[in-house]
Amino acid sequence: MATKITVNASKAYDVIIENSNIFDALSPIADYFSPSKAMIVTDSNVGALYLSIAKARLVELGFEVYDFTFPAGEESKNAETLISLWSSLASVPFTRSDIIIALGGGVVGDVAGFAAATFLRGIKYVQIPTSLLAMVDSSVGGKTAIDLPEGKNLCGAFCQPSLVLTTTEFLKTLPYRELSSGMAEVIKYAMIGSTEIFELIENGDTEKLIAASINAKKRCVEADEFDTGERMLLNFGHTSGHAIEKLSEYKITHGEAVAIGMAIMTRYAEKCGKCTEEELKRLLNALDSFSLSANTEFSAEEICKIAMADKKRAGDTISLVTYQGKDGCKIEKTDIDGLNEIISIGL
Ligand code: GLY
Repeated sequence: MATKITVNASKAYDVIIENSNIFDALSPIADYFSPSKAMIVTDSNVGALYLSIAKARLVELGFEVYDFTFPAGEESKNAETLISLWSSLASVPFTRSDIIIALGGGVVGDVAGFAAATFLRGIKYVQIPTSLLAMVDSSVGGKTAIDLPEGKNLCGAFCQPSLVLTTTEFLKTLPYRELSSGMAEVIKYAMIGSTEIFELIENGDTEKLIAASINAKKRCVEADEFDTGERMLLNFGHTSGHAIEKLSEYKITHGEAVAIGMAIMTRYAEKCGKCTEEELKRLLNALDSFSLSANTEFSAEEICKIAMADKKRAGDTISLVTYQGKDGCKIEKTDIDGLNEIISIGL
């Protein structure tokens, strides 16, 4: 049985989590869209595995299918790829009644979503996330972007998809390191308030775990679609995490870095009496069960320097998500000295 969750953002849309084979899992697209042109956007890794089956299924469902494949990796999330995708859409040509289908992980979803937000001033798109991280995080909530040489995600738009559709089947080909990186975001939802996720991790029911994570994200997106308040809770562990990712020159993945960031903030909370030793252990055990490290070789000064250059900085302060034990997390403002102290204590 598939799970269906409706996200009531400025535009409401369904997120469907299937557990069937990929061919069958794509069937619901026909319930949401009349046959039209469909541009499948994917990367070289995912395309090699799933493009032909996705194309075959969409043709069978009556769509006129085109595809756009770019080299896998964050380096492709740039203006050149976006312009090339716009040109492919224009040369067919695609109209506003046609759709873009993002088949892949976070990079594919971001580029395809940004193309959908901007081509013809906006056409519909479907997210088909194939990585755990994209399933539980980036495919839901409508953040789309490309990177600039000056930094990640500097150009983008909020643009909600018309449908998010996935199957746990995709996880069977996902490398373990990517799976555990995605688990860091799942564990983050447990830390910001959805504590039932800790039990679901122990029970090992993947579909339920994905659904609980999407429900946690849905709550934040519905409360604060444009990321000015409650949605910032999703940044738990990300301030130090982003800095560690950058300091490692991206050898440490996003999820691995967020895991360390969460451990820093939770150790800090435990030392300040904001959470119990058991709550800290519950996090560390969950991280450990997916081989996620809780420690870093980088110093508080190094982390702090990079963190204060983050785009979430406003003047001399930065919004930081702090752990409050059974009350989940809260957003607090701190300056560089405060941040340095928190990270030094939590390291
Ligand atoms: N990934 C964080 C957000 O969607 O706000």
